[in-house]
Amino acid sequence: MSHEIKPFHIPLERRRFLKALAAVSAGFTIPGYLAEALTISPQVTQGPYYPLAKNIPLDDDNDLIQLNSNTSAATGIITYLSGRILTSSGTPIKDALVEIWHADHAGNYIYAANSTRNSAADANFQGFGQFFTGASGQYLFRTVKAGLYNGRTRHYHLAVTVPGQTTRYTTQTFWNETALSESGQTWATQNSNDSVLQGISNATQKSSVILTYAAVPGTTTGEVAATYDFVVGLTPVEPTYPGTGNLLVQGALVAGPSGGNPRWKVTIPVYSGYTYEIYANPTLADA
Ligand SMILES: [Fe+2]
Repeated sequence: MSHEIKPFHIPLERRRFLKALAAVSAGFTIPGYLAEALTISPQVTQGPYYPLAKNIPLDDDNDLIQLNSNTSAATGIITYLSGRILTSSGTPIKDALVEIWHADHAGNYIYAANSTRNSAADANFQGFGQFFTGASGQYLFRTVKAGLYNGRTRHYHLAVTVPGQTTRYTTQTFWNETALSESGQTWATQNSNDSVLQGISNATQKSSVILTYAAVPGTTTGEVAATYDFVVGLTPVEPTYPGTGNLLVQGALVAGPSGGNPRWKVTIPVYSGYTYEIYANPTLADA
């Protein structure tokens, strides 16, 4: 079991808590204690700008300020967001898919309904990034400070998909500051009147997504960083795989794309509740 505590990622109140815990005699399991200390990430709307499949850049890694082989970086304040993906009992989740997407410095998403990319978005901004966690459950993104757009205060969209789940667990994180436009004007929508943030009814959950960014030591370009442990209220399911042996799967002819030839459909059970469907040219059915 890996309940190893990485002090770097522990919010202050939990550090105090763990310090107090150390003084308590043994006899209780740590996960039980952590369950009381952890705040489950509030599940909020994914919003309308999660990229469509056609919008997702080929470069979808965890460094959003560098797109493909562009020689210029994205415009904006370089911002690091890191933390761990945890179960509600504090166990790091490995193989979790962590996703981030947000507006560029001027408030434009890469999302576009009718093209592969919003042409108004910063051409050097990746706009969307993904990260798979290892055993420590840790993730890291390098991006820019989100820009502001009408109707919302400044925010990042984050999502986690844990093994065995097929739906994204989505939240949004906010800045612990007064939102100012690029020209320095106080923005109309602040944390105090942002409908998504204020829609989180649980006060502890609400404050848990308002992050304080601190200057990154040793940098001179205004880089900032914050940590956010994403605590999902879901239990990952470790799939079990069959042992070695033969697998004979019945196929079926199905209609192909309009105007095309029929195709051969093979459905393979993977684990409980999940199947792979494979479509192939019928002439390859004996392959
Ligand atoms: Fe948004």
